[in-house]
Amino acid sequence: DPRPGSARPQVSHLPPRMSEDPPGQERRPLVAVDGVPLPQKTWENWAQIKAFQAKPDDLLICTYPKAGTTWIQEIVDMIQQGGDPEKCRRAPLHERHPFLEWARSPQSTGVAWADAMPPPRTLKTHLPVKLLPASFWKQGCKVVYMARNPKDSAVSYYHFLRMHQLLPQPGPWPQFLEAFMAGTVPWGSWHEHVRGWWRAREALPLLFLHYEDLKEDPGREIQRVAQFIGQPLVPAALERVVHHTSFEVMRANPATNRASAPRSVLDQSISPFMRKGTVGDWKNHFTVAQSEHFDRDCASKTAGTGLAFRTEL
Ligand code: A3P
Repeated sequence: DPRPGSARPQVSHLPPRMSEDPPGQERRPLVAVDGVPLPQKTWENWAQIKAFQAKPDDLLICTYPKAGTTWIQEIVDMIQQGGDPEKCRRAPLHERHPFLEWARSPQSTGVAWADAMPPPRTLKTHLPVKLLPASFWKQGCKVVYMARNPKDSAVSYYHFLRMHQLLPQPGPWPQFLEAFMAGTVPWGSWHEHVRGWWRAREALPLLFLHYEDLKEDPGREIQRVAQFIGQPLVPAALERVVHHTSFEVMRANPATNRASAPRSVLDQSISPFMRKGTVGDWKNHFTVAQSEHFDRDCASKTAGTGLAFRTEL
């Protein structure tokens, strides 16, 4: 105990607060919601998220983090805007598509943002199926789900968490890979997410897309999305959507590249948000032993589901 009048002991175990950090925006541990590790602010606002009132004409874009959410969001908006890139520059993506479980304070949340938005709305979520607010099921909302092969998802997530200043740090790659397989990373298990949403096709109008298919033939996959949302594209418009949503164009576009996010949230000097946008970058990260271990783990968790992921590319 410090004696009266003595100087207070220095608190040396706390990291120095970055000067540009807005108050209350320090890195926080994850909190489990029904067993799923989520950001603390999401947990604090869970009652509001759970009570979210979906509308029948809401379109939900759903992914496990790093599956190409931003890509499919821009594709959907381009389709909805009839292939006009100028209309898609009206606001950054996070304002065009409220992020359902995002929360900063009780007043500043994805739910509040969505509630204030005129229909028809397009919303974004990373929630696993078991945490989806009940109103989406009741309203039978359309869902566009995008999945990415788990090895590239893990690599992309690792680099994203390195640059994300509010979510827990990934630590060294081997340690992160174990956490990814164990599902102790933000938004939980990749396998549970993909399996759960794959099954949800039986209960909701859901288009299940693969990142690798979009890379292989963007025109074909974009037209599938357009047909699913009831706005098929004429060839010239389809061509514009393909061009505008290419990795190179999206990387240079301030409405999609998150350039406006403060460095105290996303530090793009560590790793750019638009990082590589390729299939197979896992080969630059996994050792042979890690790859074999991962494949065995993956095979046991997806056995019998009918789901196949292309990691050979
Ligand atoms: P990499 O880290 O492998 O480059 P999300 O939007 O869900 O956070 O996903 C991010 C991943 O999608 C990143 O992968 C990013 O580069 C990639 N991505 C973003 N836009 C893309 C595009 N137009 N084409 C291909 N990949 C894209």
